[in-house]
Amino acid sequence: MSECNVSNRTIFCDDNLDVLRGINSECIDLIYLDPPFNKNKKFTAPIGSSAEGAEFSDIFRQEDVKEEWIQTLEQDQPELHQYLKGIRGVGKPYNFAYLAYMAIRLIECHRVLKQSGSVYLHCDPTMSHYLKTTMDCIFGEDNFRNEIVWCYTGPSNVYKHFPKKHDVIMFYANRNFSFNRDAVRIPYSGETMARRGRVEGVRSIISSSAETQERRSKETVEDLFGSGKIPEDWWSDIPILTNQAERTGYPTQKPIKLLERIVKAGSSENDVVLDPFCGCATTCVAAERLNRQWIGVDISVKAYELVKQRLEQESINIWNPDDVVNMRTDPPKRTDLGEDYREHKFVYVISHPAYPGEFKVGIARNWKQRLNAYQTSDPDRQYRIEFKLETPYFRDTELFIHDKFENKHEWVRGDIKEIIREIENFKPTHSSQSVQQSLL
Ligand SMILES: C[S@@+](CC[C@H](N)C(=O)[O-])C[C@H]1O[C@@H](n2cnc3c(N)ncnc32)[C@H](O)[C@@H]1O
Repeated sequence: MSECNVSNRTIFCDDNLDVLRGINSECIDLIYLDPPFNKNKKFTAPIGSSAEGAEFSDIFRQEDVKEEWIQTLEQDQPELHQYLKGIRGVGKPYNFAYLAYMAIRLIECHRVLKQSGSVYLHCDPTMSHYLKTTMDCIFGEDNFRNEIVWCYTGPSNVYKHFPKKHDVIMFYANRNFSFNRDAVRIPYSGETMARRGRVEGVRSIISSSAETQERRSKETVEDLFGSGKIPEDWWSDIPILTNQAERTGYPTQKPIKLLERIVKAGSSENDVVLDPFCGCATTCVAAERLNRQWIGVDISVKAYELVKQRLEQESINIWNPDDVVNMRTDPPKRTDLGEDYREHKFVYVISHPAYPGEFKVGIARNWKQRLNAYQTSDPDRQYRIEFKLETPYFRDTELFIHDKFENKHEWVRGDIKEIIREIENFKPTHSSQSVQQSLL
């Protein structure tokens, strides 16, 4: 766990990947993400709304996928890389581009989240089925807590299927996360309280000892049942924004009530809440109202203007007039790495008995996961790790071996002892060291 290197109440107007990469590891308590849903269209705010001029593109294409993302996925998240390779030819051609864009950002979210933190990913059935597996790979299948279905109603003009009226919010957290169930109870109606009170009264007469009855008579119905009901994993009590005063016109703006529920459940006062796709800053407003620290990021310039306006209007009575919102257009610089920190990764050598004399030489952050990803493609699980070396010069070492030995699709042909010796004895040249540094 490290100190957060971004001040409270900061809005970044930048690509969230650069911002996330600049945030220290394990310093965020709660992340809520409401990214584009892969709708293959542009969203524009209505003319005359306070968000007029705001727009964002929800269109993803193969050309937008950076080679560096794929390399990082292959090295750091081999199982996820395998999965994404598998879905390349599945569904719409741009699904792969969307998932690669999401995966590379979700990896950073995972890195910046505290061990005790929680993450809520908002999406809809367009991609929720693909995103669930992506999240399982990054945050761990066992850390999946809920698929929250946010149901709403509204006019519909579809005739050949049921109107689509729900979003999906996936909630993941490590084992020791905090979940404030009492903070999100939904108050019982007076009628429910009275009915429950009557039932409980009869029950206690029938079944309780005299002593228990006497004690119970002193308790209010509210004490017996708590101050309200815990929301189940489908939420139908939060309407979608139509003409409510809070509506700015920002496309896809979410209700503050929705965000308040998530912020209350997933964080405590003074915790740090991060929204990497903050739009018109609904999460930031909710966090401010609930006395949390917050960081918002959005690439859209209009979002950047709206955020301040909205925070000033909505939080006017909450803020101390001296408090400021920091607007930044530059990503932060990590302070948890030290001056001469260099990232280390494994250079590994993997073999398979079906290919004698050939060896896969590659790079991985986690060689065990890498080996496992290979094993999943072999029913007999016969891949073997021959050698691994953790080094800051992983990229140069790999290139050197691929150059030195005959190689095809990153499998090199040669004597295993010689390959290992060359890896162990590899010394970067001065120029390759600087290349290595610029690549990091
Ligand atoms: C669905 S909207 C979020 C709406 C927000 N939850 C609200 O209540 O206003 C998605 C936002 O992600 C932003 N966005 C898209 N790609 C981004 C990126 N790479 N970095 C930062 N923001 C991005 C868009 O500009 C848009 O405002």
